[in-house]
Amino acid sequence: MNIRGRRTIRKYTQQPVGDELLNRLIEDASRTQTMGNLQLYSVVVTRSAEKKEQLASAHFSQPMVKEAPVVLTVCADFRRTTDWCLQRQASPGYDNALSFLNAATDALLFCQTFCCLAEEEGLGICFLGTTIYQPQAIIDALELPELVFPVATLTVGWPAEQPPQTDRLPLQAIVHQETYQSFGPERIDECYAVRESLPENRHFVEINGKETLAQVFTDLRYTRKDNEAMSEGLLATLVRQKFLKATGLLGVVPAVVERRPEILECDVVRFQNKKEKWVAFVGLLDGSPYEIFTGLQDDEEGIAIPKSVSKGFVIKHYDRDGQKRYDFQFVNKRGYKTTIEGLSERFNPKYWDYAKLISGVLRYRMPIDHVIRLITSLQLENDTINSWTTGVARVLKKYLPDAQQTPDEEEEKVEN
Ligand SMILES: Cc1cc2nc3c(=O)[nH]c(=O)nc-3n(C[C@H](O)[C@H](O)[C@H](O)COP(=O)(O)O)c2cc1C
Repeated sequence: MNIRGRRTIRKYTQQPVGDELLNRLIEDASRTQTMGNLQLYSVVVTRSAEKKEQLASAHFSQPMVKEAPVVLTVCADFRRTTDWCLQRQASPGYDNALSFLNAATDALLFCQTFCCLAEEEGLGICFLGTTIYQPQAIIDALELPELVFPVATLTVGWPAEQPPQTDRLPLQAIVHQETYQSFGPERIDECYAVRESLPENRHFVEINGKETLAQVFTDLRYTRKDNEAMSEGLLATLVRQKFLKATGLLGVVPAVVERRPEILECDVVRFQNKKEKWVAFVGLLDGSPYEIFTGLQDDEEGIAIPKSVSKGFVIKHYDRDGQKRYDFQFVNKRGYKTTIEGLSERFNPKYWDYAKLISGVLRYRMPIDHVIRLITSLQLENDTINSWTTGVARVLKKYLPDAQQTPDEEEEKVEN
């Protein structure tokens, strides 16, 4: 089909789209340009009713998802490339925003080439932007690992409708010669005049009780409230998929979660306090510190755990009488879980209270550099506690965004 005749198709016949055709189109589309020839994308093909059902709810129940014979989810994918590097003694650095944008660009270019080829073949396609509205639901349904992120969904089938073509803005709305020319009121009027005069758009404005077509977009279709809420979800999911760090990036601050989840991932960080060996358990939410427990590395007066343990979980536990306590759980080298009960009882109550205060600050997401500044400015009652705060500040430094990291001559005192 000529591009000038194309339109989105949302209704499909029962005729199947065979694997042979689909694979040929995907293979041909993979000739599209790609960063470093790395092909930073993957396509998940959905044909089963069960999976379509799951996907449909992630796409706000848009009927095409269940009705189309094939649903394709196109993902930005740095997983495969990262695994390749790891397997070939290469050190990948693709868990960042730039890499996400590169992979998303690759994925969308591939996606568009596929659309053009499929439409030439006579297939009908609908692009679903809802893919990035609730990405976590799609990630769960398709079991996408870290560094894989859904960016586009295509419903694909043989057309059972021939809707009228939609209009397009005139060339002057999208082209600028040499430098960007701002849009004064006159040029805006010219760009949107035809669109605003179309009977279907006037009708749309009227039935929605609005004054202008633009208000239909701002007040109904794509509202600030929805955009902001979904942006938060999008960023949180990018953090979970390891494309973004939870703090420091473009001012992205992780969401405040007041109700502590029952289980938090945790880093075990050893540090020196005066001559003593101490250990910190740093509970993490979305990859950034949410709480901290510290104590002596000592079986009698604190906790001794194998040196190899650097990660685990802090679990909030309620006794039968409603008493709260925190347990630490780790998996040992042989793969067995070990739980150390009652972190609170094992540590000196004085340090425990200070740590509680610091945890309160972390929980409300004060940026880590501010938390560190606050802790190091405390003048506490004795040298040992002051040296403890220095240790804790050093532990937290580990969580500063890369751009804020500074070399620390005493770094070696933090052992992992
Ligand atoms: C980023 C993006 C998101 C879209 N999301 C949806 C969607 O969720 N549901 C839908 O029915 N169409 C969706 N579309 C299709 C557009 O509505 C359609 O392309 C547009 O109205 C122009 O119509 P045409 O493709 O027939 O020319 C999307 C298209 C794009 C590019």
